Amino acid sequence: MAEIVVSRRADATPHAAALIEGLRDIGYFLETAISDIIDNSITAGAHRIQVITETYSDEPYIAIVDDGDGMAEDELIAAMRPGSRNPLAARDEPDLGRFGLGLKSASFSQCRRLTVISRKSGQTSAAIWDLDDVAERNEWAVQLPDDLAGLPAVEQLGPTGTVVLWQKLDRLTGGYSHNAAKRAEVINQRIAETERHLRLVFHRFMEEAKPIRLLLNGRLLQPLDPFARKNPATITDPEEKLTLIRGDVEIQSFTLPHHKQMSKADWEDIGGPEGHLKSQGFYLYRGKRLILHGAWFGLCRQSEITKLSRVRIDIPNSMDADWKIDVKKSSAQLPPIVRDRLKKVIERILAGSKRTYSKRGQKLVDHERLPMWHRIQADGQIRYRPNADHPAFADFAESLPPDLRRGFFNCVSLVGASLPIETLFADMAGTAEQIVPDHVDEDALSQAVQAVLTRMLKAKKDMKEIIALMKDNDPFRSAWEDTQRIIAATIQTKEDK
Ligand SMILES: Nc1ncnc2c1ncn2[C@@H]1O[C@H](COP(=O)(O)OP(=O)(O)O)[C@@H](O)[C@H]1O
Ligand SMILES: [Mg+2]
Repeated sequence: MAEIVVSRRADATPHAAALIEGLRDIGYFLETAISDIIDNSITAGAHRIQVITETYSDEPYIAIVDDGDGMAEDELIAAMRPGSRNPLAARDEPDLGRFGLGLKSASFSQCRRLTVISRKSGQTSAAIWDLDDVAERNEWAVQLPDDLAGLPAVEQLGPTGTVVLWQKLDRLTGGYSHNAAKRAEVINQRIAETERHLRLVFHRFMEEAKPIRLLLNGRLLQPLDPFARKNPATITDPEEKLTLIRGDVEIQSFTLPHHKQMSKADWEDIGGPEGHLKSQGFYLYRGKRLILHGAWFGLCRQSEITKLSRVRIDIPNSMDADWKIDVKKSSAQLPPIVRDRLKKVIERILAGSKRTYSKRGQKLVDHERLPMWHRIQADGQIRYRPNADHPAFADFAESLPPDLRRGFFNCVSLVGASLPIETLFADMAGTAEQIVPDHVDEDALSQAVQAVLTRMLKAKKDMKEIIALMKDNDPFRSAWEDTQRIIAATIQTKEDK
């Protein structure tokens, strides 16, 4: 760059009132804001972190109390400074911080009054940022209160630790600033939604040998492992390591168990309010803390085929610039080298799930396997057609006078041709696990069982073989107990004859 002579400079200190208001709107939600405060507590070595909310009072508040190292007054004042740390400075390995902004920007995104009270070496200090005070005075000056009596949640402080207290919750009123009951309802609802986020974002810390205990209004939160690693039916692929200049990236794929291999409660917990289709994808952790989840970074679509796939990616905090981690620690971008590797991971996942699916498809067309439906794949299209040769159909058709047979087969093929594919597709994309085969009544089941038995025995099939076949195929598979009973009764009558 050519040398330019500068002999004058002018003061361009930001206007405190304007800039501090601007810090409020960088896109935090309640859950990301609370998580950012909890990050600080974890970095400060806390093992018990409480989120306490008082929503019904005229002056509602949210407090996050930890038992970490705490801060002396000079440290506290430094911590209150927006941009208290240079993002380019190296951070200790377990440090979850980033820009020296989180405490302030996360708090202001939810409230107009932030009080931090901290205890260290027997000294308790407090400092307040009140946006109304800043607006009035237009200067970067934190208030240092003379006395702490009357500050909520202070009594929760142990020998060392910190309270982050949010008051003037103007962003959490839901528009009901003068209706305390409605306002409380809004805040409580948002807090309830936050619970799952915290259980997920911090699950690795909560699972450690010396776990971090997170309490929400006195209730201990349980970790939410998005990979269901405790379930023996989860498939865990080997871990891969990608060594880059600024550290290692770890990648590991998981396939969640089918919903039948999980309790309903676990299935819903792990799927979350958005469901499994929307929760598949990469789970990106920075220093064990979940940053992003439920997305394939544009490398693949969230489809039914990959619904049970979740991939853990672990990065150290030394790669923030490469990954473009933002202030809120809720977004990131893939460095190209990692992108290439992840593409391979996805190719493998896709190949794996296609194989499982076509294996099932194969089963359907296998003649030894008694299919009610044929899956016909030709000319780039896939069709499903009722199998008119199925014993249940063939046997019945034979019992009909020849002039009625054609009509019967026409009916069967009409059912096949009007398969409600679009509705099925919509249901599959939403709540696939709720789609179940229709119930067959006793009479229909009994007719089908008898038809199969008659035909198969005539074809000199072994009884064991016939039973194994039926057990593998609907409608018998879904009504197996009834089927067994009908088989037993049928054999009995045959023997009696
Ligand atoms: N709960 C806490 N306990 C101890 N120190 C804290 C706590 N919260 C914040 N601090 C101090 O305040 C500083 C500024 O926090 P923050 O604005 O979140 O930025 P960052 O986390 O990026 O450093 C931290 O680096 C830390 O030194
Ligand atoms: Mg921080």
